[in-house]
Amino acid sequence: MTLLNYVPILDATIATGAAVTALAPMQDVTDVCFMTTIAEYGCPDYFFTEYLRVHETSRPEKHILKAITENTTGRPIFAQMLGESIPDLVRTAHLLSHYPIAGIDLNMGCPAPKIYRKNVGGGLLRDPDKIDRILGELRSAIAGRFTVKMRIGFEDTTNFDRILASIDRHQIDLLSLHGRTVKEMYHGTVHYDLIAHAVSRLRCPVLANGNVTSAATALEILNFTKAGGVSIGRSAIRNPWIFKQIRQALAGETVEVVTLGQVRDYIDRLYRMPKLQATVSRVSRMKMYLNFIGQGVDPAGIFLKEMRKARTETELFAVCDRELLTHPDRVFAENPYPGLWARPGCEG
Ligand SMILES: Cc1cc2nc3c(=O)[nH]c(=O)nc-3n(C[C@H](O)[C@H](O)[C@H](O)COP(=O)(O)O)c2cc1C
Repeated sequence: MTLLNYVPILDATIATGAAVTALAPMQDVTDVCFMTTIAEYGCPDYFFTEYLRVHETSRPEKHILKAITENTTGRPIFAQMLGESIPDLVRTAHLLSHYPIAGIDLNMGCPAPKIYRKNVGGGLLRDPDKIDRILGELRSAIAGRFTVKMRIGFEDTTNFDRILASIDRHQIDLLSLHGRTVKEMYHGTVHYDLIAHAVSRLRCPVLANGNVTSAATALEILNFTKAGGVSIGRSAIRNPWIFKQIRQALAGETVEVVTLGQVRDYIDRLYRMPKLQATVSRVSRMKMYLNFIGQGVDPAGIFLKEMRKARTETELFAVCDRELLTHPDRVFAENPYPGLWARPGCEG
C-alpha cells in the first residue's frame, strides 16, 4: 500500500474558493456503518475517524480501523490520534501510514475530564511548549497530510496565538477549529470571531466547527470567518442531508426541504445498520440517534418526550410512526427547535 493517498481536492477545492464539508469525528458514533448511512443522503467531502488512543502499549483499535479499510463512500478519511507520548504518536503515525488514509489528524480538543486529566486531547492546550514539540516531531515523521483538530483554549484563550504560531511554523495541512474552550464543553456561545482570527493568522485552510446546524448557518459562518469549510458533528446525526444542503446553498440553488416522512425512512435506515443490529441494547442505541433527530421533529418536544419513555422496540417505533407519519409531508426543521436538547443516555 502506498504511503497516504494524497488528496488533491483539499487544495483544489479551497483554491477555487469553494468551501468543503467534513463530518466531525464523534467517538462511538462516526463508525463505518454511520459513515456509509449518511453518505446515502449526501456525503461530506471528508471523514475523520473517531480518536485512536495512543500510549505505550496501544495498537490502533481494530473497530476504528474498519472506518478506513471498509470505507466505501468514495470520500477520503483522516485517521485521528489522541495522545501525548511523542515516541508512541510517531510509532502510531508510521503504522497508520500503511492504511489508505487522507492524512493523520491530532486531537487537541477532547473535553472529557478523564481525557484532559491525562494531558491528552483538550488537556494539551495547557502546554503550548509540549504542543510545539509534538507538532514538530510528528511533522517530521508524517510524509503525507498532517492535520490538527482543536479548541480555542483550555480555560481561556491565553495560549491560542502561541498554538496558532506552532501550527503555522510546523506547516500543518488543515486545522479543524471548534470555537469553544475545553471548559465550555459543547454548549453556549461559539466564538466564531476567534475562528476568523485563526483563518487570518494561518496559511493552512481552517474548518469552522461548532453549532453548524444548517445550510443557512453554514453560509453565515463561512461568510463571517472566511474559513475554508465547515466540520459538522451533532447536526449530521440529526440531519444527514446537511452536507448536500450546504452544497446546494453554496451553489445558489434551492435547498432541499426534508419532510418528517423522509426522516422516518432515515430512522429505519439507522436501525438496519449491521452494527446496530449486532448490539444487545438496540433500543438505547436507537435512542441515542433519536435524541438528536427529535430536535427537529416538533417544537414542543413531544416526540423527544415520548421516545424517551419507550421501553421496547415496538413502543419506540410506534412513537416514531405516530409522531412522524401522521403528517409525513410536514417539514423537518432546518435547525433544532429552540430549547430542545439532545440528552443521550438521560431517558425516562
Ligand atoms: C458524542 C461525541 C463524540 C465526539 N468524539 C470526538 C472525537 O473522537 N474526536 C474529536 O476530535 N472530537 C470529538 N467530538 C467533538 C466533535 O467532533 C465536534 O468538535 C463537536 O461536537 C462540536 O461540533 P458540532 O456542534 O457540529 O457537534 C465528539 C463530539 C460528540 C458529541
